[in-house]
Parts: sequence; C-alpha cells; structure tokens
Amino acid sequence: MKTLANMAVEVLSTADGRAKTALSRDYAAQWFAARAAGETPEIGAATPPLHPARPEKPELLSPRDVPRRRPGSRPGQIALLHAVGHIELNAVDLHWDIIARFTDVKMPIGFYDDWVKAADEESKHFNLICDCLEDLDSFYGDLPAHAGMWRAAEDTVDDFMGRLAVVPMVLEARGLDVTPGMIDIFRKAKLDQVVEALEVIYAEEVGHVAYGSKWFHFLCGRHDLDPKEVFHKLVRKYFHGALKPPFNEEKRAEAGLPPDFYWPLADDPRP
Ligand SMILES: [Fe+2]
Ligand SMILES: [Fe+2]
Repeated sequence: MKTLANMAVEVLSTADGRAKTALSRDYAAQWFAARAAGETPEIGAATPPLHPARPEKPELLSPRDVPRRRPGSRPGQIALLHAVGHIELNAVDLHWDIIARFTDVKMPIGFYDDWVKAADEESKHFNLICDCLEDLDSFYGDLPAHAGMWRAAEDTVDDFMGRLAVVPMVLEARGLDVTPGMIDIFRKAKLDQVVEALEVIYAEEVGHVAYGSKWFHFLCGRHDLDPKEVFHKLVRKYFHGALKPPFNEEKRAEAGLPPDFYWPLADDPRP
C-alpha cells in the first residue's frame, strides 16, 4: 500500500474530475480496509503541488465575470448546480491537500481517518452533482466557474491552524448556512434528484465542519492557546472580508462551532 501522503499527491495531480474522484474513492477504500484490519498505514511525506491539476474546462473567471442567472429558470438552476459541482471538486482537493501539506506536524491517526472520510464524501458529492447536471443535459465544464477557489489554500499553505480555521470552520460552515435555501429552490423546481443529492451533501457537511472544529481545538490544546481568540486572529489574517449572516446556528452548534466564534467576525452585529 502506498503512503497516505503519496495517495494524496496522486489525487491532487489528476486533472479530470471523474478520474480524480474515482482515485480518491479508491484510496479512501484502501485506507479504511487497512484500518478495519487493525493496521495503521504509513502517512509518509510528499510534496503536494501548489495548485491541484484541473480539467481544461470549465473556464475559470473572476467571480464578477461569471454570468448570474435567475434561480427560477432552468438555466439558472443548471448554473447554480454547476457552481456547487465546482465547489465540491475544490473540496476534494482541499481535503487531500491538508492531508499531504502538514505531515511535519505529528497528528493522531484519527485526524487522518476524519480527513480521508471527508475527502471520500466530497468525491461522492462531486459525482452526485455531475449526475444531476448530466440528467439536465449539461455537464461539469459546460459553464465558466469561479477562479480563486484555491485562494484559501494558498494563503494558508504554511499555517496548519489557519487552514483549519478558514477552510472547514469558515468556508464549509458557510455551506451549512446556504444549503437549505438551495434545497428549497430545487424542491420548487421539482428536481427530486437534485434535492436528494443536496440533502446528502447537507448532512455530511456537518461532519466536515465538526472535524475542523475538533482538530482546531486539539491543536489549541496542544499549544495551550485560547481557541476562540486564535480563531478570530487567524480568520482576520487569512479570510478576506466579513462573515455573512444569517448563520445556521443549529447546524453550526451540531458541528461544534459556538456563536461567539463567528458572530464577532460578522459584517452585521448580532440581532
Ligand atoms: Fe461537499
Ligand atoms: Fe465538505
């Protein structure tokens, strides 16, 4: 069996979305088969690329150049789904990147269990969204997508706690805030397959935020730091702009994110 770091770099170096997620799911299955057999696979060390390999399409544009369409129309629904697919593909890479990027920090094996599981789930999410797009006679790559999704990874390339603060605890937590509204849009559009896919994503993303919070708190404890203070400092350092209410306080609580972590970083004061 390859080391986990080598597996991660191979996934990051695969350009095609379906091929990337197939490899990702295969390596996750190998990891969990070994773990179920009572093994502790080697983590190893490797050099992940600064930018993961990506397919030629979609064309990547600055967010303000990506055309906006009304979500009440079918083209608008397809554009929204396409944007979700793009986020999921980035998420696959983000999860493998955090595995390979910070191997110099010794972590309990449970950290890797969590991140391999999350990477496997992101791969499933991407495939679910691709299936939905194909069912609507579109495909991932059919429309332009946001450039700059990798910015959070670049900004925190040498700051493990900064990565945990910004990616799972800010960006993925934001997903918990906006997904119920998206589910409503597709329910109204009577696109049941999309509703089902988004419900899977919504349920599993709570876990990803929870992993972020758990391991962030673990590292704070290791270094005897106040988690809330460090979180505020790191988000202000690495995240561009304020957090946007309304927050999904219930799901954030379920994921181990208390209100005093995110409200002080919001652009609107707490109601
Ligand atoms: Fe996801
Ligand atoms: Fe996620």
